[in-house]
Amino acid sequence: MFGSRVLGLVAAAGSVFAQTTVYEAESGALNGVTVGTSVTGFTGKGYVEGFDTATDSITFNISSMTSQLYNLSIVYNGPNGDKYTTVVLNGVGGSQISLPATTTWTTVPAGQVLLNAGANTIQIQNNWGWYLIDAIKVTPAAKRGAHKVTTTPINKNANSDAKALLKYLGSIYGKKMLSGQHDQTSLDWVTQNVGKTPAVLGVDFMDYTESRKSRGASSTDTDKAIAFAKKGGIVTFQWHWGAPVGLYDTAEHPWYKGFYTDATDFNIETALKDTTNANYTLLIKDIDTIAVELKKLQSAGVPVIWRPLHEAEGAWFWWGAKGPEPAKKLWNILYDRLTNHHKLNNLIWQWNSVAAAWYPGNAKVDMVSADTYSQGDHGPISATYNNLLALTNDTKIIAAAEIGSVMEPDQLKAYQADWVYFAVWSGEYISGGSWNSLDLLKRVYASDYVLTLDEIQGWKKTKTARSWEA
Ligand SMILES: *[C@@H]1O[C@H](CO)[C@@H](O)[C@H](O)[C@H]1NC(C)=O
Ligand SMILES: *[C@@H]1O[C@H](CO)[C@@H](O)[C@H](O)[C@H]1NC(C)=O
Ligand SMILES: *[C@@H]1O[C@H](CO)[C@@H](O)[C@H](O)[C@H]1NC(C)=O
Ligand SMILES: *[C@@H]1O[C@H](CO)[C@@H](O)[C@H](O)[C@H]1NC(C)=O
Repeated sequence: MFGSRVLGLVAAAGSVFAQTTVYEAESGALNGVTVGTSVTGFTGKGYVEGFDTATDSITFNISSMTSQLYNLSIVYNGPNGDKYTTVVLNGVGGSQISLPATTTWTTVPAGQVLLNAGANTIQIQNNWGWYLIDAIKVTPAAKRGAHKVTTTPINKNANSDAKALLKYLGSIYGKKMLSGQHDQTSLDWVTQNVGKTPAVLGVDFMDYTESRKSRGASSTDTDKAIAFAKKGGIVTFQWHWGAPVGLYDTAEHPWYKGFYTDATDFNIETALKDTTNANYTLLIKDIDTIAVELKKLQSAGVPVIWRPLHEAEGAWFWWGAKGPEPAKKLWNILYDRLTNHHKLNNLIWQWNSVAAAWYPGNAKVDMVSADTYSQGDHGPISATYNNLLALTNDTKIIAAAEIGSVMEPDQLKAYQADWVYFAVWSGEYISGGSWNSLDLLKRVYASDYVLTLDEIQGWKKTKTARSWEA
């Protein structure tokens, strides 16, 4: 292969040999960029620089003997600070890769690429620009071994409903995926238009929150969840938790956006400093209000995939606004209050941030998940999946808790992105046509890989759950 160089044989699991191939940047097709040699330490004849315009790119021709999954990495130098690049495979989609500041030639993982048999292209596109590219490397990805996930809840007193749910999820994990939809109205839209009912309903404790109820909000999501569970479905709750006090309540930042960091001056760090201040007390009061709802679910025999403090690492919600430590502290307070004080034993505790600094730890979490929105991209979100896999050392089941565009089942299987369920966000995301076409939704819902409500009937009974086990 022109412009490539074989690095040698690297032993991989199962005595398969993975051969890494290096493609020198200066040998790619250069568009708007040039070859430099002044920063020493590069390999080959130089490196590529001058990424300063949106259309600047390097295109590599890559051939593969078979259709196969490869690990991709980029060798770069970042003397101008933290930057991003975009990697595009065969001209479609594109994933953003972080290139942290460095003044030495550094290799960063850039996700995985499913190459076709024969010719392929990998393109490095400008994005933020102002970095130097020396080479890219592709290595055939080793097939991952069996998952090592725990299917025993962290709560020693978990009831039989919660235990059955986690066990059921474990039994399908890596073999099947549950379809899911947020919001009852959107779920009904799926039933009516796609012709299948999702297995998972996503609902919200948002309008049971004190600061919203006192301003006229109300909700029936608890009743909807119980009704859906009676039909044999699985429910997951998040909580858009409006801050208890400090809402700006202005035209620009209305009270109903009070879960957003920029709509309140509520300070989680100060509130959690001690257990006697007024704001700590208000947080506990809010948790107690939600406990009332969770108890109704527990009494009705409904286990809940419980996803509080979602997207904490994004910092756009007040619970993530002061960094990882207060968020993790609040997670522990929530767990203690709901489990030990309120004796709620029907909960599967699902964490929803990916970064290691935010992770409450394997002893505090039953499942992990991420929310990703990439309009019209029906890829497997495998880089995020692999980050979550690494986060827990593959000890926790992983879910795509909120997505915009559904994933292609074939891609999920090829990339071994074993999300146990997906849950599309409500409204235009599912029914607007631009995030998901109706044809694609029909194909995804009809896939053998994707389970719908009719296909999971009786999941609580061990016997049925076992039918998926290897
Ligand atoms: C890549 O392949 C295309 C199509 O065969 C060819 O036109 C182009 O010159 C190749 N680019 C490089 C850098 O080899
Ligand atoms: C490829 O990437 C995956 C996911 O990040 C990783 O687990 C694996 O060890 C890497 N290497 C090979 C040879 O598969
Ligand atoms: C509680 O939070 C509100 C809103 O941010 C703030 O004005 C008030 O000073 C806080 N109270 C205490 C005791 O920290
Ligand atoms: C995963 O394993 C690594 C290495 O053994 C360890 O450092 C890390 O703490 C583990 N992560 C978790 C979440 O237990």
